[in-house]
Amino acid sequence: MAQLWGGRFTKETDKLVYNFNASISFDKRFYRQDIRGSIAHVAMLAKRGILTEEEKEKITDGLNGILRDVENGSLEITDEYEDIHSFVEANLIDRIGDAGKKLHTGRSRNDQVALDMKLYTRDEIIELDGLLKELLEVLLKLMKENVETYMPGFTHLQKAQPITLAHHMGAYFEMFKRDRSRMKDIYKRMNYCPLGSGALAGTTYPLDREYTAELLEFDGPTLNSMDSVSDRDYLIELLSAMSTVMMHLSRFSEEVIIWNTNEYKFVEIDDAYSTGSSIMPQKKNPDIAELVRGKTGRVYGALMSLLTTMKGLPLAYNKDMQEDKEFVFDAIDTTKGCLALFTGMLKTMKFNKERMEESAKHGFTNATDAADYLVNHGVPFRDAHGIVGRLVLYCLEKKIALDDMTLDEFKAISPVFEDDIYDAISMKTCVETRNTIGAPGKAAMEQVIAAEEAYLAAE
Ligand code: ARG
Repeated sequence: MAQLWGGRFTKETDKLVYNFNASISFDKRFYRQDIRGSIAHVAMLAKRGILTEEEKEKITDGLNGILRDVENGSLEITDEYEDIHSFVEANLIDRIGDAGKKLHTGRSRNDQVALDMKLYTRDEIIELDGLLKELLEVLLKLMKENVETYMPGFTHLQKAQPITLAHHMGAYFEMFKRDRSRMKDIYKRMNYCPLGSGALAGTTYPLDREYTAELLEFDGPTLNSMDSVSDRDYLIELLSAMSTVMMHLSRFSEEVIIWNTNEYKFVEIDDAYSTGSSIMPQKKNPDIAELVRGKTGRVYGALMSLLTTMKGLPLAYNKDMQEDKEFVFDAIDTTKGCLALFTGMLKTMKFNKERMEESAKHGFTNATDAADYLVNHGVPFRDAHGIVGRLVLYCLEKKIALDDMTLDEFKAISPVFEDDIYDAISMKTCVETRNTIGAPGKAAMEQVIAAEEAYLAAE
């Protein structure tokens, strides 16, 4: 048991207590950030004359040595240390002797862990943003290729009006684009350096907090030392943003699962992204989509956990806050994994375009357009709605589509119908005449695609 604080204690810590308290098993994942923070801290201490240049060099070399040895596998981070901070400090002292004992001057583990977690989170936000961008690129490609791929649009999971596959993919593009902007916001708001806040009340050493912040690429130091060591808002924001990403992925997964059913057959998931059944040889299951949908609960759970952990905590640091790590790490790993897998699945998925168009034809998705036709010929909308309702009923009885009716059949229900009705309710017309901003018509869609292309090129 290696710990940093034995001095005022007369008994050894009980083994169970030690294990309960220790965080090394999970905080070892930010050894890089811990070492990076220490190197900056030491550079600042030397700049202020608190350490000599020589001591700075020695400590920095020692820290870089630890980093190198951990990376190349010759130094293992074992559970005999209480946390990653103890591991690094103890190893440093082993390597360079007394100078290593000066590393922790003007610092507490409270501001140290606050810094490590921020550095770690910042790196992960950049990765999440990159994964979201890759997904957006796949979506944009699908949008470009499918401005004339007709399919039914649904409300209440009932066929409603025809749209295009480009339009459907475009809806998800907007969602994941907002997710990216949330990541950016969080980064901006959290990007202030807590190091130098000490345990809670700053320190008596003349630290240059601006300099430390600059070395670690923050926008500046945090402005209240008590808040600095006890702020976990940025983690809650990140968990919330990741929950939203997962909610979007889960909705999309649900659609893929429906589209992949024997009844729909809108898509075929690539063999590499589906699995078989141990008993039913005919099966090809959409497991990846189902797992993404399922794992969403895990990320929501992390958000609720941290909110609950934080709600009763008095200022400033309390050990409860150590509980932030495992949940956040798990949620980040889960969200990143789901994004990568979903993108791969989408990229390789085949869309059965004929089947989609056929489905749109046979669901009265052009009924609104038939009503609009009557309105354009002077029939009040409410009456037109009633007339088309009767057309639908007639077709249902005869098991045909509106387009299959003869002109005489149309006229029997309303004399207003003329030969141009067929063109007015064709799939192409239904979609192509919807050209307001954000609508599925080709011209409108192409404008959006150009704007999104510029957005992806810019950020
Ligand atoms: N492992 C601790 C955490 O994750 C580090 C801070 C410990 N500080 C303390 N006063 N015990 O929060």
